Amino acid sequence: MRKPFVAGNWKLNTDSRSSVELAKSVAASLSGRVAGQISVAVIPPFVYLQSVVRAVSSSGVAVGAQDVYFEQKGAFTGEISPAMLKDVGCTYVLCGHSERRHVIGETDELVGRKLAASISGGLLPVLCVGELLEERDAGQTEQVVARHLRTGVSGLSAEKMSAVTIAYEPVWAIGTGRTATPQQAQEVHAFIRNWLAEAYDKTLAEEIRVLYGGSVKADNARALMQQQDVDGLLVGGASLKADEFVRIIEAAL
Ligand code: PGA
Repeated sequence: MRKPFVAGNWKLNTDSRSSVELAKSVAASLSGRVAGQISVAVIPPFVYLQSVVRAVSSSGVAVGAQDVYFEQKGAFTGEISPAMLKDVGCTYVLCGHSERRHVIGETDELVGRKLAASISGGLLPVLCVGELLEERDAGQTEQVVARHLRTGVSGLSAEKMSAVTIAYEPVWAIGTGRTATPQQAQEVHAFIRNWLAEAYDKTLAEEIRVLYGGSVKADNARALMQQQDVDGLLVGGASLKADEFVRIIEAAL
């Protein structure tokens, strides 16, 4: 049985006060309900990680980072290493979010290096994969998702792979209010699980959690979660309001 996992990606939002308030209010509303039944994470901007880690401490809510660099230290101005994230109390890290791929210009190869370094550094990476609208319209969804998977986890052993969560986020559904239908999500999630079974083995494929992301709201969370291969949700905009985020978590329980 895969434990459901709901993560809130705050992106370039909040400030020092509102990040702590949001984290505290999510932690307080969930008190005691999280640990056993569901994994929950909040993913604030780098500069608020430490105060958010303090704000959720002993609530069972974990903290993740939105990005990471693959080097451990040295002359890489502006970058943050896996060890630094671990040091401030991060558990998870996003690798290859579509905004990093398509707005910032990260390559598949860079995402793969970040993912490998994250695992070596003791973090649990969430590898984001997903097609652009024109790729879906051209019937290339599976091809694109397979490429993101192949390059994202290239060369990882099965043991290391068990640290990974996959997030399927169709780019056309992110921040657009246009969610994939539960059926569309299920089709791609099943494709991802088959890909994992072929690249690794069936047991591992059954263990790895595959999240859906893209305009998830409290009112569509349950239908998405009811799909067999949807194991959780990666939430952007709707994770910025504590009550809505908590309703999404409740729908995933
Ligand atoms: P959204 O973002 O929920 O605002 O569409 C999802 C994401 O980018 O992870």
